[in-house]
Amino acid sequence: MLEQIEPAPADAILGLTAAFNSDPRSEKVNLSVGVYKDEHGKTPILDCVRTAATELAAEAATKSYLPIPGLVEYREAVCDLLFGSGHEVIEGKRIASAQTPGGTGALRVAGEFIKANLPGATLWHSDPTWPNHPNVFNACGLPLKKYPYFDSQNDRLDYEGMLAALKKIPAGDVVLLHGCCHNPTGVDPTGQQWTEIASVLRERGVLPLLDFAYQGFADGIEEDAAGLRAFSTEGAELMVCSSFSKNFSLYRERVGALAIVGKTAESASALQTQLNAVIRRLYSNPPAHGAEIVNKVLRSATLREQWIADVAAMRRRINNMRQGFVDGLAEAGVPGDFSFITQQRGMFSFSGLSKEQVESLRDEHAVYIVGSGRINVAGLTPTNLKYVAEAIGDVVGQ
Ligand code: LMR
Repeated sequence: MLEQIEPAPADAILGLTAAFNSDPRSEKVNLSVGVYKDEHGKTPILDCVRTAATELAAEAATKSYLPIPGLVEYREAVCDLLFGSGHEVIEGKRIASAQTPGGTGALRVAGEFIKANLPGATLWHSDPTWPNHPNVFNACGLPLKKYPYFDSQNDRLDYEGMLAALKKIPAGDVVLLHGCCHNPTGVDPTGQQWTEIASVLRERGVLPLLDFAYQGFADGIEEDAAGLRAFSTEGAELMVCSSFSKNFSLYRERVGALAIVGKTAESASALQTQLNAVIRRLYSNPPAHGAEIVNKVLRSATLREQWIADVAAMRRRINNMRQGFVDGLAEAGVPGDFSFITQQRGMFSFSGLSKEQVESLRDEHAVYIVGSGRINVAGLTPTNLKYVAEAIGDVVGQ
């Protein structure tokens, strides 16, 4: 019975890391998966995380189940970080929330919630988007459609195309947006554009679903929430999937959250019961460790300050690498203007390299980037930068 099952295709991102790990070439560089590396090419454990984990180990009194939606203190701390402490959606008790296994877990719970509670809703995502978005939402059985997002001729947001498409989306559908540091393009709407997008969706009766996995990697923890907060107006409804994989460097601990903002406190209570029902049938209740760490750091003035400084340092290093990359490409004699790389935000740069060039990079130079041409700038270091720039020069010149 099981013999007839064919192998699944390799994952568009994590499949590359598996291939990278088994590549014997010593010069290999992995710029595929969105993981931050320091200047030595290591993914660090943040000091604030180490301290919190040590304290937690000493305090631990039980390993009994958490409630279905997770730790209440963690959920409150997440909502403060997303919306800003004292925001009307918090004070008005308009949020249903859950601690989830990573940002992907939040997306899956959101998808299952939509499927169960908004029958017939189509989910619209940007073209391009993170390749796992269609995987997750297809698995939930949601119909998917795309809206234009990126102007590849000019390496910028196709704002006019995007807005025109959003204005045609039928009431009752859901629009998935990247809250900041769009993955894969690194191109975000401006503050003014976010406000306009939010009012278009609200007027049309379309539900915004924000994937917010990179808070702090564009301009700052508070600054990066500006888009999300443009949607959080009086009486407005929205869903937010967030993650601490990147900004706490807690990738393997799988720490995320889903916040659903309802019109009223009464509606939010009903939403919470439906959210709990979805989680109960998916994984029952979440794992505790990572969320306990985040909760401890966010609630300690000293650890929180360290964390904000750590995120700022990661952001600065990535931006230095963006400039270094542009300079390195020029020094390697790669033709063209790559200054757009310094304008892109977050971990990724959308290089414009073709599928064939991406394959040559991997086959001939052991440089791994995603098939769409997405480069993880956070994986560049002073040691590998020249090698990568010269490898790109070679494949572009072929
Ligand atoms: C990425 O886009 O590389 C990250 O979000 C990791 C992943 O799970 O794909």
